Amino acid sequence: MTAPGTQAAYRTDDPPAAPASGPKIVVTGATGAVGRHVARLLAQRGTERPGLFVRDPDKAAALGLPGPAVRGDYADRELLRRALDGADAVFVVTANPLRPEDDENILAAARAAGVRHAVKLSWCGVADPGADDLVARWNRRSEEVLRDSGLSWTVLRIRTPMSNALAWAPSIRERGVVRALGGASRTACVDPRDVAAVAVAALTEPRHAGRTYALAGPEALSPREQTAVLAEVLGRRLEFEEITEEEARAGWSRRYGERIAEALVAGARRRAGGAAAARDEGTLAELLGRRPGTFTEWTTDHVGEFS
Ligand SMILES: NC(=O)c1ccc[n+]([C@@H]2O[C@H](COP(=O)([O-])OP(=O)(O)OC[C@H]3O[C@@H](n4cnc5c(N)ncnc54)[C@H](OP(=O)(O)O)[C@@H]3O)[C@@H](O)[C@H]2O)c1
Repeated sequence: MTAPGTQAAYRTDDPPAAPASGPKIVVTGATGAVGRHVARLLAQRGTERPGLFVRDPDKAAALGLPGPAVRGDYADRELLRRALDGADAVFVVTANPLRPEDDENILAAARAAGVRHAVKLSWCGVADPGADDLVARWNRRSEEVLRDSGLSWTVLRIRTPMSNALAWAPSIRERGVVRALGGASRTACVDPRDVAAVAVAALTEPRHAGRTYALAGPEALSPREQTAVLAEVLGRRLEFEEITEEEARAGWSRRYGERIAEALVAGARRRAGGAAAARDEGTLAELLGRRPGTFTEWTTDHVGEFS
């Protein structure tokens, strides 16, 4: 494996390479935080044929994702099977803890379509014995479904993607304010482009079969510290406002419903106790063959979205 160097993360504005005739790799969750970069990286490599499974083709188009895309929902196993037909590998991203059947549907369809290998996006909290909320139990169960699927598999457990900071973009643009729960709680957030690079390796290189990787970022930052980085990179004054647990719960309930909101509050309490602060100690750097991206670098590449 190459020693960690200083090579920068790939840039999302690189032009895609010419379409190739290599093995087909289907990317589910292709409009998501990591999936979009997996789709772009595969297109840039030009040695595999990416096939995307999306539920909103307009969103995929707005993100400039390379086609072809099949439009569908994880509830439709037959459509999933057709999208996976002829594929060698699949990137599995599910996002709804109230729909545990989504993973089963994707993997049953993959098995029926003759797919060889599945790479699953999961969460570092799975390995935390103190995490017993809905999100933790769902991710644990989803990993079990993968390991029992009969397919060759790789699990990528990640810490919070740096792109979660985009949720602050509207209030930064409008009022120069970041509002969050747990302003002092540090998380070793990870650049989703780095996770995508590992996903592409796991989708294309047999040596990652049967492996579970924990992918954290190179520094543990609190929301207050992230706000300071944003202010520095954006070159403007930003305020951080701590919100109460009740405010956070109410906001998450409106967006995701009460059961998921309760799990997110439980996660925030664990982060306050330091549960998410363990930084990458070499795993991500070794898998990438270079140093992982920092939050300063991620922010520098996303200035336009905060301005
Ligand atoms: N976000 C975090 O803070 C975080 C932190 C650590 C680990 N994780 C883990 O990462 C995994 C992904 O979670 P996420 O919420 O972060 O994902 P995400 O980036 O929001 O991506 C989810 C993707 O799945 C698609 N999708 C969701 N439901 C679908 C359905 N029924 N049919 C078809 N497509 C569907 C979404 O499509 P649309 O674009 O149309 O919605 C999107 O492309 C989970 O296992 C999570 O636990 C997340």
